[in-house]
Amino acid sequence: MSKGTHSRFHYRFLMWHFNTRLRYVLGAGVLFCLFVLAGKVSSIMGWHHYVHESESGQRFTVLVNTWRRPDLLKKSVQHYSSCPRVDAIRIVWSESREPPKDSLVSDLLSYVESASRKSTHMIKLKIDMHDEDNLNTRFKPLNDLDTDAIFSVDDDVLVPCDTLVFAFTVWTSAQDSMVGFVPRMHWIQSEMQDASFPRYIYGGWWSVWWMGTYSMVLSKCAFLHQKYLDLYTNHMPVQIRDYVTHKRNCEDIAMSFLVANATQGPPIWVKGKSYEIGTIGISSLTGHSEHRTACLNMFMDMYGYMPLVHSNVKAVDARSTWFW
Ligand SMILES: *[C@@H]1O[C@H](CO)[C@@H](O)[C@H](O)[C@H]1NC(C)=O
Repeated sequence: MSKGTHSRFHYRFLMWHFNTRLRYVLGAGVLFCLFVLAGKVSSIMGWHHYVHESESGQRFTVLVNTWRRPDLLKKSVQHYSSCPRVDAIRIVWSESREPPKDSLVSDLLSYVESASRKSTHMIKLKIDMHDEDNLNTRFKPLNDLDTDAIFSVDDDVLVPCDTLVFAFTVWTSAQDSMVGFVPRMHWIQSEMQDASFPRYIYGGWWSVWWMGTYSMVLSKCAFLHQKYLDLYTNHMPVQIRDYVTHKRNCEDIAMSFLVANATQGPPIWVKGKSYEIGTIGISSLTGHSEHRTACLNMFMDMYGYMPLVHSNVKAVDARSTWFW
């Protein structure tokens, strides 16, 4: 190859490169304008006026699972009592000592009272005491419940109110399903193709991200129907609750199995950020996914089949997706 052709090629390549870059810049500019326009249009068209501000309609109960973290519990109650559509906040208290009146209960009550004063609805607060520290207690059926919808959440997980209310509206159109923000999946183990004895692997966030597929939403941040609390505590095979007690893990997988077996369908993943305000959770500990994989296969053996169903559906708020 002579020097001439080489440099001509180089020149042409540069031209092409320049053109594409120009195209990108122009494209970005157009996109930016559309974004700005979309923001304006949504306020002009009044898409905000419908669901969010409404104080009527169905409500839900926030079920907060807490354990020895009064500061996180305070933040959680303060936050969720400020959200619309909340009927009551129930706290799963699994310590042997009573919740301290002066340093905790009085603060929680004051949050709920001041939030109730700002809205038209009196939010109820109740601390349900359990004298054992057992993961199954978070799903004990609740007395004096006025809603079918339960938002089950850990004390260190905060979901912004508008995202929460959106997820609740998704749940109202699929009341038998679990509707949540933290998707997980199960993979079939590829080396073992024996169809009569399939084994599965638990897939965390990266698996879901990579595949765009999920089959569970975790109960640390999900809506579910209150009937599942009774099914979990009084009708699910006792070996599953014993396994959860013994391993101190997987109550959320057990609930996913229960709902999947009841509905024969997948859960629903809702787009939206949730914020973990505590320190590192259990999932950052080593060996976590092996334990979860063991739970998957153990529960499958107890059910006699794999009830979990895969899905690729992600519910998004149409008001935030104006283009397509
Ligand atoms: C699965 O669902 C069926 C039908 O609702 C029910 O009869 C069965 O007991 C459930 N299985 C388990 C292990 O809970």
